[in-house]
Amino acid sequence: MLNQKVQEAINAQIKKEEFSSRLYLSMAIWCETNGYPGAAAFLYKHTEEERMHMMKFVRYVNSRGGSAVVSDIEKPEDKFSSLNDIFTKILVHEEFITTSINNLYGVTMDEKDYTTGNFLQWFITEQLEEENLMRTILDKISLVGLDKAGMFHIDKELEGMATATKSAPMA
Ligand code: FEO
Repeated sequence: MLNQKVQEAINAQIKKEEFSSRLYLSMAIWCETNGYPGAAAFLYKHTEEERMHMMKFVRYVNSRGGSAVVSDIEKPEDKFSSLNDIFTKILVHEEFITTSINNLYGVTMDEKDYTTGNFLQWFITEQLEEENLMRTILDKISLVGLDKAGMFHIDKELEGMATATKSAPMA
């Protein structure tokens, strides 16, 4: 049976993963309606990845004899100024999620729930990859510049990433 404190902490994380999915959906919509189809494809895929993260937690809680909770979710931001603005916000958000996963790991250690601690290893690695990917994209944006030609180039790169067979690094 899942420890109550661990279950509550995972349910809080489920809400954050669902929020992430909705935030990236909101960003994808902005990109699609502002002339960035590649960034939109990248972010639509990212939306699915966040939903997959949420579902991993849901299934884990239920499989350990607990009960996952579907929470109220606040409306994500939907006004953005540029691709640079979006990817800067994604990195800040992912850093927040990394801290949250680390805190969750801390709860499992405090409660001596090593099974859940082990389950969280996948997410710890995933966060490292996500942060690195977002930093790489931001570095590219600053290299190519913020003018129209630069943004066109970045949009094409993101389209390539979205259609790449292996999508794990952008999860
Ligand atoms: Fe579920 Fe982007 O972390």
